[in-house]
Amino acid sequence: MTNTKILVFAATGNIGRHLVTFLRETGHAVRAVTRGPGTASLPADVEIVPGDLADLSTLDACLAGIDAVFLLWPLRAGERFPAVLDLIAARARRIVFLGTGGVPDLPFEEQDRLVHDCGIESTVLRPSTFAVNTLWWADQIRAGDVVRGAYGALPMSLIHEADMAAVAARALTGPGHDGATYTLTGPEVLTQAEQVRVIGEVLGRPLRWAELSRDQARQRLLADETFPDSFVDVLLDGYAAMLAGPPPVLTSTVEEVTGVPPRSLRQWVADHLDDFR
Ligand SMILES: NC(=O)c1ccc[n+]([C@@H]2O[C@H](COP(=O)([O-])OP(=O)(O)OC[C@H]3O[C@@H](n4cnc5c(N)ncnc54)[C@H](OP(=O)(O)O)[C@@H]3O)[C@@H](O)[C@H]2O)c1
Repeated sequence: MTNTKILVFAATGNIGRHLVTFLRETGHAVRAVTRGPGTASLPADVEIVPGDLADLSTLDACLAGIDAVFLLWPLRAGERFPAVLDLIAARARRIVFLGTGGVPDLPFEEQDRLVHDCGIESTVLRPSTFAVNTLWWADQIRAGDVVRGAYGALPMSLIHEADMAAVAARALTGPGHDGATYTLTGPEVLTQAEQVRVIGEVLGRPLRWAELSRDQARQRLLADETFPDSFVDVLLDGYAAMLAGPPPVLTSTVEEVTGVPPRSLRQWVADHLDDFR
């Protein structure tokens, strides 16, 4: 797609900020959606529009004159998802959707089906666990050398938000991605306890994991004012299911789509040093 105008939902988020940058660097016009245009702190030449996925009446103005849309689903319920897709399909020619495991009434298979059947060119990204989740430990790391949590033996492949954004940018602007569902992972599998050790190595600190029972971890997360209460059981149930299932399988999709291997956790920590200090 050349001379496209691309609408980026969640442009102020972890992936969205990188995506806006990558799209501008490759010469594409970007319109960024946020619920708080006054505080979005995006680059001055990015068009910013107010929009709220929970309020469909705000979306028409966002979509006017748009060719392609990056969508993720930040809401905890999926009831409005089909209607949002209908609005997008009526205006745009292409959608790239970032799948979510955080919406109990919208399973992955349903997300895939709805997006690929919405009537325009479509790509679904299914990322592994975000490396940025390790910032949930940042308070503990600032306070000492021990990180307490449940399921320390749980293996994960953590993915850098910039790698997801790079894949999204290619799918939004290049040919050959229509109908694809891409499973995206980082380059390595690490248990949560190993992740803590790696973070410590990059920070130059002897960080270690201390195991809590699920209930202790639950109480800890519920008491954490920065962590949404509604997500505590979703997260812990997800971790329990992941531990009971097969170990994560790495994919080469990030490199195949972008031409560059995915970034390691070490690289991610190096990019986020200030967040741990
Ligand atoms: N964390 C993981 O391991 C993981 C793994 C797979 C998938 N995911 C999925 O990835 C997605 C992004 O998660 P994240 O934690 O990285 O969040 P994020 O994108 O960094 O932050 C949330 C973004 O969503 C926007 N937003 C929130 N509510 C909105 C609404 N009602 N209407 C429009 N925009 C809204 C916010 O924009 P404003 O505040 O500016 O409006 C913000 O930019 C989620 O769907 C999550 O389920 C996460």
